[in-house]
Amino acid sequence: MRPKHFLNFDNFSKESLSQILDRAIEIKLKSESSNIFEKKTLGLIFQKPSTRTRVSFEVAMNRLGGNTIFLSSSELQMSRGESIPDTAKVLSSMVDAIVIRNDSHEELKLFSENSSVPVINGLTDLFHPCQILADLMTFKEKNEGETLKKVCWIGDGNNVCNSYIEAASKFDFEISIFCPKGNEPFKPLLKNAKDFISFTSSKVEALEKAQIVTTDVWTSMNNKSSSKERRKTFKNFFVEEKDMSHAKDNAIFLHCLPAHRGEEISLNMLEHAQSMVWSQAENRLHAQQSLLEFLLTD
Ligand code: CP
Ligand code: NVA
Repeated sequence: MRPKHFLNFDNFSKESLSQILDRAIEIKLKSESSNIFEKKTLGLIFQKPSTRTRVSFEVAMNRLGGNTIFLSSSELQMSRGESIPDTAKVLSSMVDAIVIRNDSHEELKLFSENSSVPVINGLTDLFHPCQILADLMTFKEKNEGETLKKVCWIGDGNNVCNSYIEAASKFDFEISIFCPKGNEPFKPLLKNAKDFISFTSSKVEALEKAQIVTTDVWTSMNNKSSSKERRKTFKNFFVEEKDMSHAKDNAIFLHCLPAHRGEEISLNMLEHAQSMVWSQAENRLHAQQSLLEFLLTD
């Protein structure tokens, strides 16, 4: 049987995603842990730095009774030229699931095609689906019973934004994007997104009626262009406290973190009364505990 991979939202139904989110909220409420994955091992291949993704997966696997092995790129023979398919075949014969963070979604796909166990996207140049699970969970637990109809994205059309677009198509919400020209999200995604994605040159218009207001760094880890140039390009594309007054009254502010105060957000935005960023970060743990249960049980 082919393993269930979580590379993006593509192959997941709305029902499966909702099940993962509801279970994540239940795990959090009950502070649940178990031994269902005793003697199971989660491999973590991280070719880029991480605080939240790494720690939340390690703790989640621990709470499920399992172990983790963390491998940075320099520790693998891949750094000396061993191929991705060879590495995937060998590692997946020993561990029970593998999280990968890299800067090539194509390489993640190649790895998954050669893996006999579930592969999870821990962030690539194109997508960061685990982050959006935590974001949607944060909205759901805060605004219980309310249907998400509009998200406002301000800033770079990056990997996190791409995953929001995929989520919008699954959950039927509008995503309104205020980003500088030339920094739009991944083009192939936009082809089928006409019905739920809108671009605007007015920040206020993007914010109107939004229930989630969110942004991310101006320069992502995979972005090789000069940060100095990007600071000029993005100088008007930030979120500050007063912006929240244009969104829905009970809107929440989210940021995947790490944040650059004074760039994509004003100095005190994370501490704004409507900011849920600390719950959002904590929810990475619960959402991924739920995701591991979903992927590793029949
Ligand atoms: N948001 C997020 O993925 O954080 P890390 O880079 O710290 O994992
Ligand atoms: N867009 C950011 C997200 C970091 C969690 C990056 O890729 O660096």
